[in-house]
Amino acid sequence: MDRIRIRGGNTLNGTIPISGAKNAALPLMIASLLTDDTLTLENVPHLADVEQLIRILGNHGVDYAVSGKRLVQDPAQGRTIHFTARTIVDTTAPYELVSKMRASFWVIGPLLARMHKARVSLPGGCAIGTRPVDLFIDGLRALGATIDIDRGYVVAQAPGGLVGNRFRFPKVSVGATHVMLMAASLAKGETVIENAAREPEVADLAACLNAMGARISGAGTSTITIEGVTALSGARHRVLPDRIETGTYAIAAAMAGGDVTLSGTHASLLSTALDTLRQAGAEVTELNDGIRIRRNGAGISPVDVVTDPFPGFPTDLQAQFMALMTRADGVSNITETIFENRFMHVQELARLGAKISLSGQVARVEGVAKLEGAPVMATDLRASVSLVIAGLVADGETTVNRVYHLDRGFERLEEKLGACGAEVERISG
Ligand code: UD1
Repeated sequence: MDRIRIRGGNTLNGTIPISGAKNAALPLMIASLLTDDTLTLENVPHLADVEQLIRILGNHGVDYAVSGKRLVQDPAQGRTIHFTARTIVDTTAPYELVSKMRASFWVIGPLLARMHKARVSLPGGCAIGTRPVDLFIDGLRALGATIDIDRGYVVAQAPGGLVGNRFRFPKVSVGATHVMLMAASLAKGETVIENAAREPEVADLAACLNAMGARISGAGTSTITIEGVTALSGARHRVLPDRIETGTYAIAAAMAGGDVTLSGTHASLLSTALDTLRQAGAEVTELNDGIRIRRNGAGISPVDVVTDPFPGFPTDLQAQFMALMTRADGVSNITETIFENRFMHVQELARLGAKISLSGQVARVEGVAKLEGAPVMATDLRASVSLVIAGLVADGETTVNRVYHLDRGFERLEEKLGACGAEVERISG
């Protein structure tokens, strides 16, 4: 199993190109199930999760083709992939596939909308809490589906097709909002979703669905209206930049010090996180096609953070920000409100010398003067990258094991950091 070895102490200087967003690419790829025409997605990141979803969609009958010759494509550019679900050959998403990636559960929306039935295994994914599916079930029931749980599978049916309705989510869910958008696009009549997730990836999915002929308004706000249509067509859509990758490298630059430009991204995608970084002492400048992060000499100030749905501080940057706070000049409190078990990085950061105590959903981080390299292991995607960030400033060598978590969500991480002067290498085997 591959490991990443980091020798700490270098500042970061240079440019890091930001990839297309994993969390947008996945629902966009799933949207290809809604039409028998070709959906072309540009700027698709090279990630293990994308490859896994290609396999899952293939099982339902989605063909895919990658544009251009891979060798002459600029590796910094995402791929253009054409997805065609001419015929849906199977409406079952089996445990063996869904258990590997939670987002694949979302096929339930388009399968139900187009085929009027779906049988989808209860999901797996990162071990960051129980992550139930009640909101999906309640939402789809509101659109007229009957849903049963049968031996680990969610069995959904709507023999006469889905019917639009007004539905209020009792809790904000990104995935359930994606699924409702896809399902309601092919339902009869109007659907109004209240308390919808406002994440940029939801707006990106809605823009793509609209390009396919859907009639969605309000995406990006908490009330979304969908006028159902009878069929959707193909479209071409560019995946938006990855705001979590952007935030991760911004935090890495703040941690290591130096001067880094993140290109191909927008500050508007993560204004809360960037404000937080400014408070922590980084100089953040908005550029036309990116963001510049500098920290030269100044110390890191402690900042309290509470994770929240967008536009709040993203839970997907919580572990990375905690790594930064381990080196702050004082105490910070980090409160996780989205997932109940997303502090597994705490004990690993402690192995590097961090002083963190947990009390319920709050981590109290007491900044230390230095971290020391050690072998560490990550149990989820964002936690693993927080250990890489800590390793950038730890004395000596830090080895992050179980790199497959990183590969799920960070494209060419060692290359991107290495190009800015970090000593990061992948050790195979
Ligand atoms: C998505 C992101 C993930 C991010 C998360 C929150 C993708 C592929 N993943 O995950 O990176 O951390 O948003 O920003 O886009 N919940 C329920 N019942 C449900 C569904 C969710 O209680 O039926 C709860 C979850 O357990 C969690 C909260 O709602 O506590 C938010 O989860 P949700 O927004 O659904 O996360 P995902 O869409 O899975």
